[in-house]
Amino acid sequence: MTKLIFIEPSGNRREIEATPGESVMQAATVAGVEGIDAECGGSCMCATCHCLVIEAPGGLPAMESAETDTLEFTAEEMRDNSRLTCQIAVSDQIAGTVFQVMGG
Ligand code: FES
Repeated sequence: MTKLIFIEPSGNRREIEATPGESVMQAATVAGVEGIDAECGGSCMCATCHCLVIEAPGGLPAMESAETDTLEFTAEEMRDNSRLTCQIAVSDQIAGTVFQVMGG
């Protein structure tokens, strides 16, 4: 299992255990993290799984162009540390990553 940390829109800090191979979005929604609506079910189309990466001790996999394209149309402005959590696979590399949930 891989520990991930989420700061919910309310400021509440949540630590969850994620299973390698699932997406960060899937792990967060199963754990009931607030603010990740994931309306498109992980198809990289809705941007309601948008988070800011606050800390990434081991780094994160690079973004692919589909993720960048969708982020450009988010309700909230895309920032340098913006990611769509449905496009990040859980692995040992991302253990300890802290995500700020944008909320919708
Ligand atoms: S769940 Fe829709 S873009 Fe990630």
